[in-house]
Amino acid sequence: MARLQQSLLTLKTDSFGERLRAVAQGVEDGLDKILPPPTTRLHEAMRYSVFGGGKRLRSYFTCESSRLFNVPLQNALQTAAVIELIHAYSLVHDDLPCMDNADMRRGKPSCHKAFGEATATLVGDALIPLAFQTLASLEISPEVRLELIEELGRVIGSQGLVAGQMMDLGQEGPRSTLEDLLEQQHLKTGVLFGFAAEAGGILGKASPDERQALRSYGLLFGKAFQMMDDWLDGCGDEEAIGKPCGQDIEKFTFLNLLDPDSLRKKTEETLQKALNALSPFEGRAYLLEEALVHALPRIS
Ligand code: IPE
Ligand code: IPE
Ligand code: MG
Ligand code: MG
Ligand code: MG
Repeated sequence: MARLQQSLLTLKTDSFGERLRAVAQGVEDGLDKILPPPTTRLHEAMRYSVFGGGKRLRSYFTCESSRLFNVPLQNALQTAAVIELIHAYSLVHDDLPCMDNADMRRGKPSCHKAFGEATATLVGDALIPLAFQTLASLEISPEVRLELIEELGRVIGSQGLVAGQMMDLGQEGPRSTLEDLLEQQHLKTGVLFGFAAEAGGILGKASPDERQALRSYGLLFGKAFQMMDDWLDGCGDEEAIGKPCGQDIEKFTFLNLLDPDSLRKKTEETLQKALNALSPFEGRAYLLEEALVHALPRIS
């Protein structure tokens, strides 16, 4: 464990925060152009759900993986914006009374609290086609465009994110083993991070090995991220995370199977594996490496 912490600690620099701010600004400018003006209640609610408080971590992965292959920034930012639209839809629906029934999101009332359940449901319904429409209009080769569309559809569909949410809500029968939980969290959270990291490789026509490395990195980060999220739900501070704690206390989460200290250790081990996944880039992916140290709040 000491060796593991050591190698993660050597990654500490200031570049992550600076880059994340730049990416967030770029992607929010893009989202502002993609989203229709707030002249209707639906569009107002869509903007409410997309803006204001997201960390934009998935965007960071897409932009920094794109940089490895000299993908034009505009294409990277548009793809990142698409992923943020999907992520925002998943949060709006996740918070609905029929799902996690959460009143707060990103430090403000969740979409259904601010606009009502029917509008919140329709916000999610509208964000998904907007995401695919935006991908379809990217000025890149038709093959790459199609690959992005197909892969995104796969990871967020009924064998991806939605499948994970079904399991999370107990709609696929009882789940009790660590293996069950890892599958559930991989699907509900991991696969979108995997796509976000691989997207730069898809845009940049990377080799299959490079794409695999990026995908593994994103999936492992997503796994650590959900471990941390479960830890925060049980042991975190509501004000700091901008959403209620104890929301998933009755649910099947990592804290049902591991005590907080073991969960912290498992998170660190997973981050170390994510770092190892980037080894084919021989240090060139240092901005992705740094995210492993800086993107997650410290837990103790
Ligand atoms: C929250 O994701 C949902 C989970 C997968 C746990 P984030 O914590 O990345 O959400 P924002 O975009 O920063 O609000
Ligand atoms: C959310 O997981 C995963 C998706 C939205 C797909 P959680 O339910 O744990 O996320 P939070 O804690 O509400 O952000
Ligand atoms: Mg949930
Ligand atoms: Mg939730
Ligand atoms: Mg959670």
